[in-house]
Order: sequence, then C-alpha cells, then structure tokens
Amino acid sequence: TIRSVHTVADLRAQVGRWRAAGESVALVPTMGALHAGHVALMEAARGEADHVVVSIFVNPTQFAPTEDLSRYPRTLEADLDKADAAGTELAFVPDAGEMYGEGFCTTISLAGPALGLETDFRPTHFAGVATVVAKLLIQTLPDVALFGQKDYQQLQVVTRLARDLDLPVRIVGVPTVREADGLALSSRNVYLGREERAAAPTLHRALSEAAAAIAAGEPIADTVDAARHEVIAAGFALDYLEARHAATLAPIASPAEGPVRLLVAARIGTTRLIDNLAVPG
Ligand code: PAJ
Repeated sequence: TIRSVHTVADLRAQVGRWRAAGESVALVPTMGALHAGHVALMEAARGEADHVVVSIFVNPTQFAPTEDLSRYPRTLEADLDKADAAGTELAFVPDAGEMYGEGFCTTISLAGPALGLETDFRPTHFAGVATVVAKLLIQTLPDVALFGQKDYQQLQVVTRLARDLDLPVRIVGVPTVREADGLALSSRNVYLGREERAAAPTLHRALSEAAAAIAAGEPIADTVDAARHEVIAAGFALDYLEARHAATLAPIASPAEGPVRLLVAARIGTTRLIDNLAVPG
C-alpha cells in the first residue's frame, strides 16, 4: 500500500533504497484533486519504471494573487486511495515551508515555448511551474517524469527545461483523458455550473472541427477565426485560440512549416478552461 512522506529527506531515503537495488523510478507531479487524467499518468508511469512516485503539492508560486489558490480543491485522502489503486507506491506531500524555506528567492527564467499563449494571461505562471518542477525533479531524481498533454504548453516548457538544464530525466507526455462528450478532465471542472458544464464541450468540438479542416487543406487563419467565433457563440470569454508549431509553439501559417497544434483558453462564468489538439498529418 501507498506510503506518504512529507520531507525531501524521507523522499530521498526511499528513492535511494530503490536506486541502490538497481530499480528505476517514475515521478508524476500533481496538485492533487486527482481524477482519471492523473490516474492515466500514474498507469503510464508503471509502464515506464519499476516504482512510481506521485507528488501532491498545490504550488502557490504558480498562482497569481487573483487566482483560485485558496479555493483550489484539496482531497488528500481520496487522492491517496486513487494513487494506491493505480499502483503508486510513494506519495510526496510537502507543505509550503518544506518547498519554500526561509529566504527562498531563486526562480527559473524562461523563453521559447513559455512565450505567449498562457503567459499573455498568466505572466508569472510558468516561472512558478518551472521552478517547482525543477525542484521536484532534483529532489526525486527519477528516471522518467510524466506530464499530461492537457497542459500542452506546460509539457513543452518542462521538456525544454529538462534539456536546457541537463536534468538526467526523460520527460514523457501522456494523451488527454476526456469525458464522453469531449470535455478534457480537469480539477477545475468541479467549479462549472450546470449550464456552463453543458457549454464546456464546445472547446473540444471547435478544435476538432478546426483540426479536420486544416488537415483537409483549409487555410489556418480562416479556420482558426471560425473556431474562435464558435467558442464565443457558446458563451465563453475567449483568452486565445491559436495554431502553433507543436514543439516550439511559434506561430505557424501553414502545415508545410511543421506539425500544428491548436490551443485554446477561455472563461465561462468564473472558471477558466484550457484545451488543445494535434492537427493530424
Ligand atoms: P495538475 O493540474 O494537478 O496536473 C498534474 C498533471 O496531470 C499534469 O501533467 C497535467 O497535464 C495532467 N493532467 C491534468 N488533466 C489531465 C487530463 N485530462 N488528461 C491527461 N493528463 C492530465 O499541472 C500541474 O498540476 C502543475 O502545474 C504541476 C506540474 C504539478 C506543477 O505544480
């Protein structure tokens, strides 16, 4: 059964025992409120390494003062049950003092895939994500760490971070788990009222239609414009809906320039949702 540790020292002691036995370790970083998307990461992790560690830490530095840090769902007991059922052996559950001790002042500065998209609306978000992910990777020293494609820009930022800082870890992206109607699973979906929940699948539908149109040769600019209108017509306030190069996230005008990823962020009521999709081909 799953064991919880709360300090970096206890985390390193357990991982050190596995390493000394020649066994490999996978890390799945989370903020808890675990759902089937997180479970898919832990199940994929079992296929990548001998032991799976989940971290559960609602990282304050990636929330802006106006965001939902204080009301972010916290469900630790249920999280540990789900992680256990998914074959995860160790949960690292630090408190904020363990992660950010007295005098903490070092952060990671980003560019490349961190520019634009989320950063235009959450300017400090990825610095907080990158710093905590770097800490978790250095604390755990796993062979592999798994991240969801649901947070596609985050996945690209972390992939770049590991490469640029020579972190000896393989970053694996796991496909997005969705509800039957297409809505991507998110810890924030619990905020949605009934009518908002009914409108929410529009994000995935608009991206799916746009991806098919671009794959069929329609121009990216017109297609993206139509998808934006569809999202707005469903009652969303649109932050962005963009076509980008799938790896660099640089703007892309045609599939001839490289693989295309469609990314959207939109608000309905007080809830902000993000989603993304590959253009096939
Ligand atoms: P959190 O939102 O809890 O997500 C943890 C991991 O689960 C992320 O890699 C995310 O992409 C993945 N995930 C979430 N919903 C998913 C879905 N529907 N399908 C597949 N994977 C999904 O992302 C974070 O936490 C934080 O920023 C973190 C990386 C832990 C740093 O604090």
